[in-house]
Amino acid sequence: MTEGPARERRRLLVASNRGPVGFRVADGGNLVSSRGGGGLVTALGGLARHHDLTWVCHALGDGDVEASRQAGDAAFDEMSRDGARYRLRFVGAPDATYELYYNTISNPLLWFLHHRLYGFGETPTIDRGTYAAWRAYEQVNRRVAEAIDAEATQMCASDAEDDDDPPVVIVHDYQLFLVPGMVRERQPDLFLQFFLHIPFPGFGAWRALPRPWCRQVCESLLACEIVGFQTRRDVSNFLRTCEQLLGAEVDYDSQRVRYLGATTQARAYPISVAVDEFRDHVQSPTVERYRDRIRAMRPEGGKLIVRVDRTDPSKNIVRGYRAYELLLHEHPELHGEVAMFCQLDPSRQDVPEYSRYLERIQATAERLNATFGTSTWTPLHVNLDSNFLAGVAGYCEYDVLYVNPVADGMNLVSKEGPLVNERDGVVVLSDQAGSFNELGPYVTAINPFDVAQQADALYAALTMDTEQRVARAQMLRQQVQVYDVRRWMDDQLDEIERITEGAPLPLQ
Ligand code: F6P
Repeated sequence: MTEGPARERRRLLVASNRGPVGFRVADGGNLVSSRGGGGLVTALGGLARHHDLTWVCHALGDGDVEASRQAGDAAFDEMSRDGARYRLRFVGAPDATYELYYNTISNPLLWFLHHRLYGFGETPTIDRGTYAAWRAYEQVNRRVAEAIDAEATQMCASDAEDDDDPPVVIVHDYQLFLVPGMVRERQPDLFLQFFLHIPFPGFGAWRALPRPWCRQVCESLLACEIVGFQTRRDVSNFLRTCEQLLGAEVDYDSQRVRYLGATTQARAYPISVAVDEFRDHVQSPTVERYRDRIRAMRPEGGKLIVRVDRTDPSKNIVRGYRAYELLLHEHPELHGEVAMFCQLDPSRQDVPEYSRYLERIQATAERLNATFGTSTWTPLHVNLDSNFLAGVAGYCEYDVLYVNPVADGMNLVSKEGPLVNERDGVVVLSDQAGSFNELGPYVTAINPFDVAQQADALYAALTMDTEQRVARAQMLRQQVQVYDVRRWMDDQLDEIERITEGAPLPLQ
């Protein structure tokens, strides 16, 4: 990965629900840590080398609570993957309040709203229980805000004499929507940025929530200097919502909102992959072992379709299976010539909407194999566990990568796959994924709701001529290499600097 331009060392406070590292209490009572994967951890971990970084996150298990207790409920030193030191501060405990915050408000309510997963005829229903859960959401957000406040106060107290730039706070994602507003009340001088990883829906979707909650979310975001989104469409939905909901003054060209005397800049920063680190995974002997197993699923001389997803309703796995069923129904010549491998991570299973969806995924898969499978051919192989390296092995081996979310902030699968695939595989990609904006010209586009069109697209991808496959695979790889996760972070840091200096931002 290329180094970004040299910039001033800053004091950064990052906040997210899930932290970069988690702890568990091992049998002997010792604490064992495991580093989280994913682009965000890598991107932000890289910050530790160049800046004074403190990361605030919620304690998700007993090990995190114990680690925090041993540190006197204060921040403690941790090491990023590349050996740079940063401070980690756990907040709270996975108690009943957290449970309501995570399992009722964050997922499903906000997640479903942002991914347009509700059928408004019946869902959602906001009742007294939801109001109580919203108070829990406020409470958990307050825990995080208070920790940021404490850390920022400490940073400012230990200011070097020549250090007059205020600390920069970057809050991540919908679980922490209310944090910026709560921090601003306590810290008028901090530079606040928020980044939303998931889509920002149009105002119509927000209308499902009690109006005061929508106002709380938008007013909190407008306490920031910058609110970052994955795509221009999210930016424009945000601007319109601020205008319609709050009557804020919006300049659509410069993407700025003026509200209660303050100005907030909305920007699109499409997140990407940590290229070098991701490629390193391919060298692991574990990936090689999984690749052997996955290769055995591909019929001799035939093709393998791969999908890698959390079992989230937004990922549209059931419709994906239905499209594959239709393909096999309409193309008997493909029987015994094609197979599908799915690496599925069972996600958020304490939320009924998610556990029911997983049941439907399993029932549809069984039906498909019962209908088409033979003694010598299994059309669908499903690996249901949280196994990152098996997903990487699937990326290396696909002839077709199938990515059909009904809505997705970015979708890193569609970027990670082409980076390491070794078969000039074709990407079949939903036009509702944020990544479609960048990758659209080099993928086979699909409408995630249209099962018939997806079956046709899978057929086109399976039968695409070699020249076209090679050309597309090269372009996809290049696109991901050029705009990697370091660029994503650097762009944000550059613009923080420009705004601090009062310099204008380029039009997007
Ligand atoms: O990217 C969206 C996101 O919700 C992140 O905020 C989160 O860490 C990730 O997906 C996985 O979700 P969860 O933390 O609920 O398992």
